[in-house]
Amino acid sequence: MELDISWLGARGDGVSDTSDGPVYVSCALPGERVRVDEPTMRGKAKAANLREILEVAPSRIKPVCRHFSECGGCVAQHLERNLYLGWKQELVAKAMNRQGVDADVLLPLAVPPRTRRRIRLAFHQTKGRMLLGYRAARSRQLVDILECPVAVPELVSFLSPLREFLTGRAGKGEVAVTETMTGLDVVVFAEEEPGLDVRLDAPGFCAGAGVARLSWKSGVGELERVLVPKTPQIRFQQIAVEPPPDSFLQPSAVGENILRDFVRQGTEGTSAVIDLFAGCGAFSLPIAAGGRKVHAVDVSASQMEALQKAGQGMKLTVETRNLAHRPLSAEELGAYQVAILDPPRAGAAAQISEIAKSDLPAVTYVSCNPATFARDARALTDAGYRIGPVQPVDQFLWSHHVELMTEFRRA
Ligand SMILES: C[S@@+](CC[C@H](N)C(=O)[O-])C[C@H]1O[C@@H](n2cnc3c(N)ncnc32)[C@H](O)[C@@H]1O
Repeated sequence: MELDISWLGARGDGVSDTSDGPVYVSCALPGERVRVDEPTMRGKAKAANLREILEVAPSRIKPVCRHFSECGGCVAQHLERNLYLGWKQELVAKAMNRQGVDADVLLPLAVPPRTRRRIRLAFHQTKGRMLLGYRAARSRQLVDILECPVAVPELVSFLSPLREFLTGRAGKGEVAVTETMTGLDVVVFAEEEPGLDVRLDAPGFCAGAGVARLSWKSGVGELERVLVPKTPQIRFQQIAVEPPPDSFLQPSAVGENILRDFVRQGTEGTSAVIDLFAGCGAFSLPIAAGGRKVHAVDVSASQMEALQKAGQGMKLTVETRNLAHRPLSAEELGAYQVAILDPPRAGAAAQISEIAKSDLPAVTYVSCNPATFARDARALTDAGYRIGPVQPVDQFLWSHHVELMTEFRRA
């Protein structure tokens, strides 16, 4: 059948409004007429496979990666820049509209390609070879990748030695790789424990492939640091931190700088700051280094330890605490003039309801999920906070994900 595509869905599919409701067509663009297979139900929506593009939209461009359309990592390499940025802006605006939150949503600030410093790949040893890459869209199928224009070149050139090292040593699992100042920080998540061959070959592998630390986590075992030729180190501005294996880090240094500049502006003129969901201190450390009193809170004890060590001599205190189960109470929040909030994708519902009851003058909110952000924003505005302009930051390039940042102030 033939369809006219009129808009882009939240996951980057072209959508046709038919008399039977919307039909989602992967890789189709607004303004295109396409031939598709018979639509079928995919979850709650109808979707159809693209057969042929009968009329090509002027906004269609050539994808930069050979794996595009097969690999599920990127969904939007085929759109010209303005349409692409407008789509990301709209993802945020629609999430806010759904919650009835009124705010200006600005055009996204986008990070350049080849800047992603942290990736998580899947691997699977098949009869013929070791597959290493990302999952296909909406599928468990693994797409073996040879390039990734999102990632920094150091991570791309690591694919081949990593594939070779895993071959015959692990059946299936995942690998987290982070680029640090001293080399790559690698964690293998496999079903089996590291065998003798892993231990014997680790020194050659690490030296040859620029690995600073090789860790291994088997299904049942503890995470083991198999070999650490150099201590991994990251810097938040000038402050060095030794991140624990598989720590949270903003996906790109460029994106992190954009977020940090915004967060710092939001804390200017205050003397006591609380950094909730603080990670390894991307925000806390530079603010505390400027002489401010900062209390950093995160559920990860190892990240809090790394942060405390890096912040010695500063007016920085840390606390390991699960903010979903034990948020800071309205009373505890009374000690601070501003809160930085950068929760995981689930958002910060429990903490937000305490902030709503508090007298906290300002909240700087960074989010990687517009839907949970909009829910939390609604609770804060209902409690009397005024929301500032919302600035999307496109640090999940070509995917359907988007980061954002904004400020709330007590009216
Ligand atoms: C999006 S990261 C932000 C980290 C930091 N602000 C940064 O920019 O590097 C979210 C952080 O929330 C932490 N986290 C996740 N669930 C949590 C919870 N229930 N309570 C406290 N912290 C949590 C994670 O350990 C992670 O460090």
